[in-house]
Amino acid sequence: MRVVIQDNYEKMCVWAANYIKMRVGEHNNGPEKDRPFVLGLPTGSSPIGVYKELVRMNKAGEISFANVVTFNMDEYLGLPREHDQSYWYFMHDNLFNHLVDMKPENINILNGMTDDPVKECEEYEKKIASYGGIDLFMGGIGVDGHIAFNEPYTSLASRTGVRDLTSDTRIVNSRFFGNNPEAVPAQALSVGVGTVTDSKEVLILINGHNKARALAATVEGAVSSKWTCSALQMHNGAIIACDEPACGELTVDTYKYFLDIEKKERL
Ligand code: GLP
Repeated sequence: MRVVIQDNYEKMCVWAANYIKMRVGEHNNGPEKDRPFVLGLPTGSSPIGVYKELVRMNKAGEISFANVVTFNMDEYLGLPREHDQSYWYFMHDNLFNHLVDMKPENINILNGMTDDPVKECEEYEKKIASYGGIDLFMGGIGVDGHIAFNEPYTSLASRTGVRDLTSDTRIVNSRFFGNNPEAVPAQALSVGVGTVTDSKEVLILINGHNKARALAATVEGAVSSKWTCSALQMHNGAIIACDEPACGELTVDTYKYFLDIEKKERL
């Protein structure tokens, strides 16, 4: 696992956007350029700065999305696309509407209004598989370490499915629903932990003091479904991009270790 510590949120976002630009660019100039690059994407406040930077780069001609297929992590069950808190709305508002060459047919987001959630999730897994899997899954985590909507004690082998949200998550996410936890949908559709860790690479953004315990659990804790983010320790291509405030619960040794091995300016 790599842990890339940046001074602040802005630098973390620029680093992550540059990493995506590098991987997409390599793909489009490499032997597999005839197939699309498959990019997994998250919602939440953490990736907003990355999306801003990707949009800037895209408009400046530094990264093309013409050969990129995206799969989003999750969606609230029961929210229509037009709802301003649906993840469909979020992704279009923060990223897709601003890209000059993203093809709408290459955007995949679970349908929160499906009348057959189980089938919707099975089809999503099949569609990911039809592309040969995900090349790079970017994600964020919740304060309880949930990855996508895989709450504590979701199996680390889980696949895309229906998830019940914990009261904790509904309280945390109520900031987007008029501070009313009851207004936050009680269920969501979400890729599984196994869906994420099957990706060739996983890049997780962890920023802010409120994520310090989750970062420590991800990097230093035991691999346990209590912290579903800890599954990343078993992945051979996992990168954590974080900021200084998120490092508050790391041991000094761990912090120094990653600063030392990542100090060369590399992507
Ligand atoms: C939601 C999403 C997660 C996201 C988490 C953290 O629960 N389902 O995918 O990682 O929020 O969000 P934020 O980045 O706003 O802290």
